[in-house]
Amino acid sequence: EHGLECPSYPWPHEGILSSYDHASIRRGHQVYQQVCASCHSMSLISYRDLVGVAYTEEETKAMAAEIEVVDGPNDEGEMFTRPGKLSDRFPQPYANEEAARFANGGAYPPDLSLITKARHNGQNYVFALLTGYRDPPAGIAIREGLHYNPYFPGGAIAMPKMLSDGAVEYEDGTPATESQMGKDVVTFLTWAAEPEMEERKLAIEYLNLIFPTPIGVENLQMGFKWIFVLS
Ligand code: HEM
Repeated sequence: EHGLECPSYPWPHEGILSSYDHASIRRGHQVYQQVCASCHSMSLISYRDLVGVAYTEEETKAMAAEIEVVDGPNDEGEMFTRPGKLSDRFPQPYANEEAARFANGGAYPPDLSLITKARHNGQNYVFALLTGYRDPPAGIAIREGLHYNPYFPGGAIAMPKMLSDGAVEYEDGTPATESQMGKDVVTFLTWAAEPEMEERKLAIEYLNLIFPTPIGVENLQMGFKWIFVLS
């Protein structure tokens, strides 16, 4: 069962040689972190994945250090907490699925690591879903705790509308309209779900070997394009 057929949007990273809009990935991460992460995990992504893609290594380390990670056991056999580091995965909002459902009226907010791959027409669907909340048509009753969204199969979703103009304040000054945030968070989620991400990470390490001095994101993008063209 599908919801309403969603439009196709002109994603800039869809072209054969196009690379991602890295400023958009960065803004999309900001949306994920400030809006979505309180309910949705992205358990496959670690902080290191963001380095050179959305943030510098320094910025990413500082971001990771803001979370508290349970680690151990130490030499005394005890668990302890420490600040996060680059190798840590993004934190989980809930201890387990039961706790997640309990907090969401029985519905389960799925892990978003692969969501654009897991859903039919993923990127267009997620964008349409996030920006598609509206009043139910006359005569359609929506159960309490659910929200009308024609793009969601069945038309009633447990997730409330999350993106309204100004829901975040972008650090790069981009006006945070509903559709801008939708586009950015979907770009971030699509980047995260890319199977090529692993290869790209290897390419980064390879480039770091060849160019031990820090290289800018632009050079990195050119590097990927050439690796792609030459392979
Ligand atoms: C479901 C994205 C924020 C709670 C979903 C789905 C997506 C999604 C793609 C899956 C829909 C499907 O199954 O086809 C996002 C994004 C967010 C966000 C990108 C941030 C912009 C939140 C927040 C909450 C939440 C903050 C909690 C307050 C849920 C729940 C479901 C869900 C409970 C399951 C809905 C159901 O099965 O009826 N979300 N979400 N989401 N989300 Fe979110």
